[in-house]
Amino acid sequence: MSVPAVRLRPTMSSDLDFVISVEQHTLNRPFITPWDRTQHEGAIRFPDFRHFIVEAGASYPSAGFAILQGCRNPHRSIELKRIVLLPALHGQGIGRECIRWLAQMAFRDLGAHRFWLDVKALNVRAQALYHGEGFVEEGRLRESVRTVEGYDSLIVMSMLAQEHAARSSLRVSQ
Ligand SMILES: CC(C)(COP(=O)(O)OP(=O)(O)OC[C@H]1O[C@@H](n2cnc3c(N)ncnc32)[C@H](O)[C@@H]1OP(=O)(O)O)[C@@H](O)C(=O)NCCC(=O)NCCS
Repeated sequence: MSVPAVRLRPTMSSDLDFVISVEQHTLNRPFITPWDRTQHEGAIRFPDFRHFIVEAGASYPSAGFAILQGCRNPHRSIELKRIVLLPALHGQGIGRECIRWLAQMAFRDLGAHRFWLDVKALNVRAQALYHGEGFVEEGRLRESVRTVEGYDSLIVMSMLAQEHAARSSLRVSQ
């Protein structure tokens, strides 16, 4: 299956109904802690954030969204705060393309030294994706998020600039 051309464009206020609906979708909710509209509005406006709509070819001008946080971080440590796709598009490689674009943006355009995220332990799909893209597990925040059944742990993962550069040059030479 070929992956549709993936692009990221800045989110506008007029996209927020879509953002909230995909974030609140019952198949996405277990993996994230949804924000309210004002939090998304802040992330569109504040320079420490970058809020993007994922475009996946002509059929899906809005396929999901992603948020970077810490873009003004003095330690050059930028967080992939959130990535969420329409459930109909899960498992087609779009998430992988997005992670590559976001890592490139973090390291090349925003000058990150460290690109990091946290992911729920139950979210094995996202963990497989992040491992596959070179993120390294740093540790676990044990039982730090409430779930319907009780608590889940957060796994903190990161990639450093030199690791990203090594992976990028390997991809170019292949
Ligand atoms: C997480 C998410 C962004 C990933 O995007 P995606 O397009 O579905 O992922 P991809 O198809 O690019 O890649 C998923 C990888 O996980 C693997 N995978 C899929 N389902 C899996 C499962 N149940 N267990 C383990 N690995 C799984 C796939 O095989 C693929 O790896 P591969 O290409 O090496 O085979 C998307 O699924 C999503 O929006 N999920 C709900 C919200 C969410 O979890 N956000 C992340 C919070 S940290």
